[in-house]
Amino acid sequence: GFHIGTAVAGGGHHENQPYPDPFTSDRKYRQVLAAEFGSVSPENQMKWEYIHPERGRYNFGTADAIVRFAQQNRQVVRGHTLMWHSQNPEWLEQGQFTAAELRQILREHITTVVGRYRGRIQQWDVANEIFTDSGALRTTENIWIRELGPGIVADAFRWAHQADPRAKLFFNDYNVEGVNAKSDAYYALIKDLRAAGVPVHGFSAQGHLSLDYGFPDDLERNLKRFAGLGLETALTEVDVRMTLPASGVPTEAQLRQQADYYQRMLVACLNVSSCRSFTIWGFVDKYSWVPVFFQGQGAATVMWDDFTRKPAYYVLRSTL
Ligand code: XIL
Repeated sequence: GFHIGTAVAGGGHHENQPYPDPFTSDRKYRQVLAAEFGSVSPENQMKWEYIHPERGRYNFGTADAIVRFAQQNRQVVRGHTLMWHSQNPEWLEQGQFTAAELRQILREHITTVVGRYRGRIQQWDVANEIFTDSGALRTTENIWIRELGPGIVADAFRWAHQADPRAKLFFNDYNVEGVNAKSDAYYALIKDLRAAGVPVHGFSAQGHLSLDYGFPDDLERNLKRFAGLGLETALTEVDVRMTLPASGVPTEAQLRQQADYYQRMLVACLNVSSCRSFTIWGFVDKYSWVPVFFQGQGAATVMWDDFTRKPAYYVLRSTL
């Protein structure tokens, strides 16, 4: 029941993606994806801007293909994501909708997307990144919370649960690996929602770490406190980026430290019985989001561009 997963690169990158869609065009990529992983997460293809590009029109092509691929290779799927402040289509963000219309739009989207993959998604990131680092709800950036108030979060979980009663429904965020203001905010919110009978089943930390910052030593303790609420836990987007030397090639010391960070994340998850899903956010450096998003940083995954294995890969294998 323990799954090692990866994000699936393939279409939907909204920022100057420097390569063609790997999932559909790179044979070697698909082979490694099938051989090495027990869980897959669409990196972009179930996000609003990709799967629901116009009002009333859905684009299920690549998402369907990923779910089919997973079934063929006996992999489970993590759905990502239903309610987020980022990567929403323009028609939604710029549309002048009334509150009643927006509520209906969200309900219809969740019912349609979750319903389409009913029985085939193990975990859904229902709400993604709804708090700021200081532990405040993103009341200005998140269209749903801004226009409909915080109660919409509970409704999203209820609608998702109706559409697929077997899927485990998660809150997911970054910078919540350790115990801090942001993870405290999730702890308080989820406790309230569970007390009110809202179908929340999981809490996950993304795990985007950087060698420029220390390792969150209280990761295990943090996962355990969420487990104490009766929740599943997971690490969903693990990668370990670094500031690259001028050569663009990481040093031996960086590679060792990177392997150590990966290992400590996996160990924390293995030490928490409710943590049964450990997903890396891409497995090969050339398709990683990191260099696109973090200037001067990279080499964040476990394989070199030719799919040979980095120290982090071997350390994860030997830890399992
Ligand atoms: C990233 C993808 O990896 C990129 O391809 C895309 O351009 C932007 O989003 N937190 C999340 C993920 O929950 O959805 C993000 O994925 C990375 C940060």
